[in-house]
Amino acid sequence: ISQLKGRDFLTLVDFSTEEIDYLIDLASYLKEQCEKGIVYEPLKGKTLGMIFEKPSTRTRVSFEAGMYQLGGMGIFLSTKDIQMERGESIADTAKVLSGYLDGIMIRTFSQERVEELAEHATIPVINGLTDLYHPCQLLADLQTIKEVKGKLAGLKLAYIGDGNNMANSLMIAAAKMGIDISIAAPKGYLPNQDAIEKANAFACDSDILITEDPIKAVKEADIIYTDVWASMGQEKEQAIRQKVFANFQVNQELVNYAKEDFIFMHCLPAHREEEVTAEIMDGKHSVVFQESENRLHAQKALMTALMGEL
Ligand code: CP
Ligand code: NVA
Repeated sequence: ISQLKGRDFLTLVDFSTEEIDYLIDLASYLKEQCEKGIVYEPLKGKTLGMIFEKPSTRTRVSFEAGMYQLGGMGIFLSTKDIQMERGESIADTAKVLSGYLDGIMIRTFSQERVEELAEHATIPVINGLTDLYHPCQLLADLQTIKEVKGKLAGLKLAYIGDGNNMANSLMIAAAKMGIDISIAAPKGYLPNQDAIEKANAFACDSDILITEDPIKAVKEADIIYTDVWASMGQEKEQAIRQKVFANFQVNQELVNYAKEDFIFMHCLPAHREEEVTAEIMDGKHSVVFQESENRLHAQKALMTALMGEL
């Protein structure tokens, strides 16, 4: 799909069902090539700057390793070490980096920062997580669901817990891909209202349910998804959140309401015995490490499509 070349990847809102399908299929193809040991270097000589204003294990390593495998290289830019920390503007940073690089990946707080960077950069900008969305995670998640379930449309996904960046992203992705989604979150911790409205606007073949009842959400689910109760930047709220979310743990009692062959997913990092019990996290329904591996393949597909000569 030539329309992907040169584009930013800030949210799945901007991508069509066909484009998302294309990226998932390309990810599966690249995974197969990788497993066969076939070298494929469409990004030879290209560089990706990776700005991190929050910590990361998966995103950093999968982007950096992915760039190398595609023939290019990733440059890790912690904001602690670059001039942004001393007040250089996002706009100036975007213009300067555009002169050196072929793409920028950024993990930060507000979605507006990513948008500002993209507005001033002349190269593709990729959202590596904001408080609002985590679209790269979703590419890997959709790839994983398709690998295990053989399809996307027609499935039911239940998300239990905080209405955070993962909940927002899952809603948009589900709506675009024809997956029914139920979100169970406590009052005051519901997903972003604008994301709910956007998801509803896209959802022609999928139902979206927002509830405070985890059992209702999990009933007949094919996929159960959860995430941490306190996201990066919310560390101080940990104690209060532990109380608020106490009834939103994914445990054996809750998963009994799902389909027998349900899969358990989590973007990681996970806190066992908080949002999920070790029994479920490490049990036979869990696909969390297949999911984390797919970050590599999905992002290789994304970078190839946005930055390569396909
Ligand atoms: N899932 C995810 O984005 O993990 P990291 O925070 O380790 O990058
Ligand atoms: N909601 C989590 C996701 C981490 C990948 C956070 O933002 O910290």
